[in-house]
Amino acid sequence: MFIVKEIQTAAYLFASILFILSLSGLSSQESAKRGVLYGIVGMIIAIIATVAGQGVEGHIYIIGAIAIASVIGIMLARKVEMTAMPQLVAILHSFVGLAAVLVGFGSYLDPSTQTLHGAEHTIHLVEVFAGIFIGAITFTGSIIAWGKLDGKVPSKPWSFSGLQMMNLILLIVCIALGVLFCGAERTSGMLYLGIMTAIASFIGVVLVMAIGGGDMPVVVSMLNSYSGWAAAAAGFMLGNDLLIVTGALVGSSGAILSMHMCEAMNRSFFAVIFASGSGSAKAGEKKAIEGEVTALNHEEVAALLKEAKSVVIVPGYGMAVAKAQYPIYDMVQTLRKAGKNVRFAIHPVAGRLPGHMNVLLAEANVPYDIVLEMDEINEDMPETDVVMVIGANDVVNPSAQDDPASSIYGMPVIEAWKAEKVIIMKRSMSAGYSGEDNPLFYKPNSEMLYGDAKASVEKLLGFLK
Ligand code: TAP
Repeated sequence: MFIVKEIQTAAYLFASILFILSLSGLSSQESAKRGVLYGIVGMIIAIIATVAGQGVEGHIYIIGAIAIASVIGIMLARKVEMTAMPQLVAILHSFVGLAAVLVGFGSYLDPSTQTLHGAEHTIHLVEVFAGIFIGAITFTGSIIAWGKLDGKVPSKPWSFSGLQMMNLILLIVCIALGVLFCGAERTSGMLYLGIMTAIASFIGVVLVMAIGGGDMPVVVSMLNSYSGWAAAAAGFMLGNDLLIVTGALVGSSGAILSMHMCEAMNRSFFAVIFASGSGSAKAGEKKAIEGEVTALNHEEVAALLKEAKSVVIVPGYGMAVAKAQYPIYDMVQTLRKAGKNVRFAIHPVAGRLPGHMNVLLAEANVPYDIVLEMDEINEDMPETDVVMVIGANDVVNPSAQDDPASSIYGMPVIEAWKAEKVIIMKRSMSAGYSGEDNPLFYKPNSEMLYGDAKASVEKLLGFLK
């Protein structure tokens, strides 16, 4: 059964509104669940309206593919650890890129597009060429990002002098191929498309290989944006208005998120995405770390907490790995009952994906009013008795402020060292995601508390109760 064009347009309009409401819902934690729901309903309407549209054939295959993909999607989503979410997001972006490439080739070979003439024909060819170009970059770039986040590809930036120049030349070659493609016959057109796809795939690889460490969050959100533009390009090729709108929404919101992240990390947006020395690090010797590392046991740390009036907890990636958010909230409740002012300090890139810490703390029912952003809490650090750094490292690294040779130099950090006492809870002295040593561990007011974050907090609770 087909639905008439007018009903399909109305359904598309309704789905677009739901997608916009979904994005606005996702902008705050309180409304995020509602936002996700709007997105799901919008997508269901979009799929039904598209599949039931006139001219769509092979319903049995489409429904079969949707059913298989839904089962895979549900299984993956249930299985994936919160800490592996960025990898999952990156690999899903690669699917969007690949889909745009396949739609591009399919649309070029589609006999019904052969009858187009004049400007219409040229516009269609430009859509195909641009769609495949963006799609191929998104596809390979996302695979490299997945590899870096999953530890399969070294996370350190890999670059060489002349990389920008090479990319610029390759871009010019692709534009020239595009001009040739628009005036070519089918066989040579396929050849130009094939060469451009290979070049764009290569650009995707080198673009993302050249970025790493602390700048990876921006890469993931930039690839999110590219995947949106790739979907919009596929929408143009298929003549599907909803896909154009949805792609543009994802593309622009991803770009805005990337800019906000760059701002939060004091990075130049263009320097990051074009990998032109993404960090602010200057060449030269790194500062030698002075001081000695000292450690306390759980009982001693519990005694310090009993004495303290104000406590700030800085959670990081290790808290996510250990799933320590639940006992941490138990500990916070115990301390608050004892009259202490306990708050969380959240760095914008703590963990491995935007909002990672906020999601985990919300999961453990931590009230939002005690969860503060880095900028809101940094000025309170000098008046804080104890800062507990739980599974965090890069986000409290003072080298970001005082060592120009450090790869994270220039990134704003939580100034934990300004507190009276700093307790760093981690398993060893190993470095964080950026690979940089952390001088905070050697400061005279710092003490290490070694061990798995969850086991350590549970032990502390035993001494506090
Ligand atoms: P990291 O700098 O990665 O440090 C995490 C620390 O947690 C490690 O030093 C590790 O030390 C410790 N740890 C691991 N498992 C643990 C466990 N079970 N119990 C206790 N400690 C454990 O984390 P961060 O401070 O949250 O900084 C995030 C980093 O990731 C930044 O460099 C950021 O740029 C990058 N990044 C962020 C994102 C987003 S969007 N948030 C995405 C990609 C990358 P031990 O091994 O000694 O325990």
